[in-house]
Amino acid sequence: MDGNTMLELIDLRAGYDTVRGFVRAVDGVNLRLKSGEFLGIAGESGCGKSTLAYAIMGLLRDQARVESGAILFKGRDLVRASAEEWKQLRWTGMAMVFQSAMNALNPVLSVGEQLVDAIHAHRKVSEAEARAMAVEMLALVDINGDRLKSYPHQLSGGMRQRVMIAMALILKPDLLVMDEPTTALDVVVQRSIIEKIAELREKLGFSVIFITHDLSLLVEISDTLAVMYAGKVCEYGPARGLFDGPLHPYSRGLMNSFPSLTGPITRMGGIEGRTPELLALPPGCRFAPRCPEAVERCREAEPALLPAGADRSCACWLHGETR
Ligand SMILES: Nc1ncnc2c1ncn2[C@@H]1O[C@H](COP(=O)(O)OP(=O)(O)O)[C@@H](O)[C@H]1O
Ligand SMILES: [Mg+2]
Repeated sequence: MDGNTMLELIDLRAGYDTVRGFVRAVDGVNLRLKSGEFLGIAGESGCGKSTLAYAIMGLLRDQARVESGAILFKGRDLVRASAEEWKQLRWTGMAMVFQSAMNALNPVLSVGEQLVDAIHAHRKVSEAEARAMAVEMLALVDINGDRLKSYPHQLSGGMRQRVMIAMALILKPDLLVMDEPTTALDVVVQRSIIEKIAELREKLGFSVIFITHDLSLLVEISDTLAVMYAGKVCEYGPARGLFDGPLHPYSRGLMNSFPSLTGPITRMGGIEGRTPELLALPPGCRFAPRCPEAVERCREAEPALLPAGADRSCACWLHGETR
């Protein structure tokens, strides 16, 4: 592993113990994230994005667990990290903004109290220093310091989301994981938030994993993109390549599922059918039953994620080295 690698997932498997068996929501994922890189992860609901994010953050609990594989953060395997190591890592090493985070603020505490509490939980600084840090962080997400006195209900959804981002970044983590942080917001606000993250990343230099079901939101902002389907990465590579021409039929379907803000107005294609039940996967390629291009081989054997041109990889019998 070179010194520039922030996070590396090696053949990661994770999921849930259920009465019907182990539901493998993340099934052999390999990903590498460089220092300062913006990685977008896209895929429909139920494809394992949140399970992957929780695994990275060491937050799988109870019936949820990492089954096998490694999560190397700056070369250290987090799968085997102790509770004490995690306590030191969270917030300062990596921080996460959760799905529906804008509703995660405590309604009875002011924004300032919540930010100052977060700082005090990890740093021995005075009240005045903590408040100064909070004001500085709010300024970075374009919120005036006066807002320290505001309560969550006095802020718009977009502002609450930006407060959550300020909270996640307050101890300057090296990695920010965002799990569908903008889904509850309208498209224009979603866009401004993701642009803000990209700008902060430039300024502060952290790495980002941004997860969303909306691939079109990611293509222009990410450095690299991973498309997930039924627990596996089916396409991976520079975002530019995916933007110019997705290889996997599933990526193409996802790209056509959302209207573009900047491009011409086209009919939304979408993808017919539903994601498969993880405990009853189809034989062959997991996407084959919904794939408009599937041939016989696709229903017989599962394609591996293999190189498919400049830095790209694709798990499809019709593309790359599998062809
Ligand atoms: N608590 C749970 N118990 C059993 N299976 C679960 C549980 N949570 C999620 N799953 C399974 O894991 C899959 C992936 O879920 P998730 O990671 O939340 O997907 P995403 O974030 O992409 O929508 C789901 O399709 C479901 O089958
Ligand atoms: Mg999710």
